[in-house]
Amino acid sequence: MIDKKYLLSSKQMAEFVARGYLRFDELVPDEINQAVMRGIDRQEIKGHPAGTPLSQCYHGTPIRQLLDLPQIRGLISSLVGDDPLFDHDAIHVREPNEGKAQGLHADSIIDCRRHFDIQLMYFPHDVPLEMGGTLLLPGSHFRRVNEMDVAAYQNMRGQIPMVCNAGSVLALHHGIWHCGRQNQTDRRRYMFKLRLNPVVRQLRLWNTDDLPADYAAPKEIHSGFPRTDDVQGILSKQEPWFEAAAGRLEIVNRIKLWRFLTGDETFDVHYWLGRLENQPA
Ligand SMILES: [Fe+2]
Repeated sequence: MIDKKYLLSSKQMAEFVARGYLRFDELVPDEINQAVMRGIDRQEIKGHPAGTPLSQCYHGTPIRQLLDLPQIRGLISSLVGDDPLFDHDAIHVREPNEGKAQGLHADSIIDCRRHFDIQLMYFPHDVPLEMGGTLLLPGSHFRRVNEMDVAAYQNMRGQIPMVCNAGSVLALHHGIWHCGRQNQTDRRRYMFKLRLNPVVRQLRLWNTDDLPADYAAPKEIHSGFPRTDDVQGILSKQEPWFEAAAGRLEIVNRIKLWRFLTGDETFDVHYWLGRLENQPA
């Protein structure tokens, strides 16, 4: 069992619900970063059949060392449980001065589950802006699209290019819109991606010590309080690409996912979902 100090906090989980990703800068030590890049060059890092428990994957490789880091174990456990299933991995290598970028996309066909997979993206070396890296559109994970259907969209307001130092990791909701940017340097770019499927109900898997003690008790319907004001604030935050009406829709989607994750079916943010549920008999 992982020490709870390595699990995510409720604030971090709320951030994941609101924005569809979490970012951990310089999490992985450099000896693992170097070993992973050597392993990729020597084609020593192999995937596994879809559905293999993650605990059985990558033994004897630097990816196992990465997965055994307590912070990585903690974030995986918090989002998809202690031993999720390996879905697939991908070693993305972008050659120097590559003349093209990838179109904006989600990695699935339309997938409307409330349950979610995560994708870890691991950057084993520094990624300056001119090297490209992955581009994300925060908050797009509830807009379930079919793979490349959004590829015509360019330069969405609020998009984030992953500019980072070596050893940084992203944990993404499976629905988030993203793409690989163009590598305009004379160096190869590496990124390792790993998709994981939960095998346990995604219910309060993180460190919930920062939630109120009476969190699961019945509460006054529609009040939206008392829960942590931090969670309310995080779930209310607008992304730059939201229009006013779109922002309301995304907040309703966030409330639904937060209820699913906490088991608190009366949770609300400023009455946005409670109003839609008001159906007097
Ligand atoms: Fe992708």
